[in-house]
Amino acid sequence: FFSAQSFQENDLRNKTVVVIDVLRATSTMVTALMNGARGVIPVGDMGEASKISQNLDSENHLLCGEKDGVKIEGYDLGNSPLEYTREHVEGKTLIFNTTNGTKAVKKSMGASNVMIGAFLNLTAVSRYLESSQNDVILLCAGWKGRLALEDTLLAGAIIYKLYGGSLPDTAPDGAKVAFGLFEKYRDDIESVILQSNHAVRLADIVENNDVSYCCKIDLCDIVPVLTDGIIS
Ligand code: MLT
Repeated sequence: FFSAQSFQENDLRNKTVVVIDVLRATSTMVTALMNGARGVIPVGDMGEASKISQNLDSENHLLCGEKDGVKIEGYDLGNSPLEYTREHVEGKTLIFNTTNGTKAVKKSMGASNVMIGAFLNLTAVSRYLESSQNDVILLCAGWKGRLALEDTLLAGAIIYKLYGGSLPDTAPDGAKVAFGLFEKYRDDIESVILQSNHAVRLADIVENNDVSYCCKIDLCDIVPVLTDGIIS
């Protein structure tokens, strides 16, 4: 269990990484793929996004993402998962640029497997991990180097599912913290997340009901996986 700021590339060999950014990047990626997007290309900044965009057929891709939670000027879509309807994204490749989430995916690129986790696909991701031979890293994107409650809760939910509600004493501290947090709040996920720093920040800038949406558990059973720089 890692937060993005403490994550080192040499942690990645023979590892499966689940990138977690509940509010909102990984929830948005899962939603886009659930609604038929062809793939998501995670990028680290606007320069990289426009370079990739220039090399793609403009009919078939969308520029998507946010800076400090707000849609980037000139982009087709922001980072509200509720914008990523079938009508908008079906068949499209999305170039996706967000403050923390897409950067966390890029940091994971040397791992054997990288997948995208959200409450929306909690059980599907947990099942996938059960059959993984590798050690698993749950990489919480957080916010600009800080821990985010909602990401830690989801990490705890995944750990809880994997260990059937009882964590061994030998588990690492990070896993124990996330597990304990989820155990405490598991019947109250949405109301706890609505009080998180990120939800409060979003309340000032976002009109959609993104936070409640991102707290929905098992809306779909897809497990987005990163292959050659594209999540699909
Ligand atoms: C991020 O990548 O930091 C987020 O998804 C921010 C947001 O809520 O738009």
